[in-house]
Amino acid sequence: MSEFRRIGVVGCGVMGAGFTEVVARAGLDVTVLVRGEKAIDRGMERLLRSLERAVRKGKISGHDRDAAMQRVSFATRAKALHDRQLVVEAVGESLDDKRRVLAELDDVVQDPDAVLASSTSSIPISKLGQGTRDPGRLVGVHFFNPAPVMPLVELVGSLPTRAATLDRVESFLTTTLGKQVVRAKDQPGFIVNALLVPYLLAAVRMLEAGAASAEEIDQGMTLGCGHPMGPLALIDLIGLDTIASIGEAMYAELKEPLYAPPSLLLRMLESGLLGRKSGQGFHLYA
Ligand SMILES: NC(=O)c1ccc[n+]([C@@H]2O[C@H](COP(=O)([O-])OP(=O)(O)OC[C@H]3O[C@@H](n4cnc5c(N)ncnc54)[C@H](O)[C@@H]3O)[C@@H](O)[C@H]2O)c1
Repeated sequence: MSEFRRIGVVGCGVMGAGFTEVVARAGLDVTVLVRGEKAIDRGMERLLRSLERAVRKGKISGHDRDAAMQRVSFATRAKALHDRQLVVEAVGESLDDKRRVLAELDDVVQDPDAVLASSTSSIPISKLGQGTRDPGRLVGVHFFNPAPVMPLVELVGSLPTRAATLDRVESFLTTTLGKQVVRAKDQPGFIVNALLVPYLLAAVRMLEAGAASAEEIDQGMTLGCGHPMGPLALIDLIGLDTIASIGEAMYAELKEPLYAPPSLLLRMLESGLLGRKSGQGFHLYA
């Protein structure tokens, strides 16, 4: 039985819902902190939609779906997380927002052995730990989208993170959740996004320069390189806002132009084109 049995999640967007589903399907109790009653409805809908998809694909039974839903409760006050043994924050990719949430969790989550984790895609964990009482219990757990399907988690410790904390979380991720873990250094973008983000942004620049259409760019990489999804479709899946924030966070530290979000991406964001979650990005979704 897992040493972490009472799990908390902050935020129920793309990744918060995905992580919640993974944990609930593994048989654990999850409390999800959201902002307001409407966010509860949206979070439940998102979870249910994904579980239904898993039922349709034959991955789980209708009984598993119902049992998973029953393990999830929602809350709108941080103190509902006071008894959690592991809490993962999955709010948007903003240093200030994440620091605010982690400082609050640091106050609320009482057990000194409890672990706080960030789902950040790009922000160094040591930056997030600044201002928390015990940065030794903070780790990065970078899941991939969709979390119930993708096997990898990048596990990141900062200089203050205790080695025993990393070992405990790795054991939880592999043994209880069935994920594969790679340990990554505490640097912007860790391993995967340090490689992936320049490639994705290069595809946007190619489109911006008029070198090819979005369909042609995506086909180039699916049909020519065997990628399961083209770069622009992948940005749509991840969210244009998330990609822009990741690029900005990496550029802020590395000052490497390859990471700077191109103008086209910024103009699309300002126009509300966020990708799949808004119904339109580089492609149109029903
Ligand atoms: N989208 C991806 O493919 C992906 C993959 C891996 C990691 N991540 C990372 O996961 C994190 C979340 O990204 P996302 O794509 O799920 O974003 P998202 O915009 O889909 O979801 C963020 C959610 O957090 C909620 N939120 C914000 N502040 C909150 C607070 N104080 N309390 C409760 N809820 C709050 C928002 O209302 C929103 O629903 C980011 O750090 C991102 O970099 C994203």
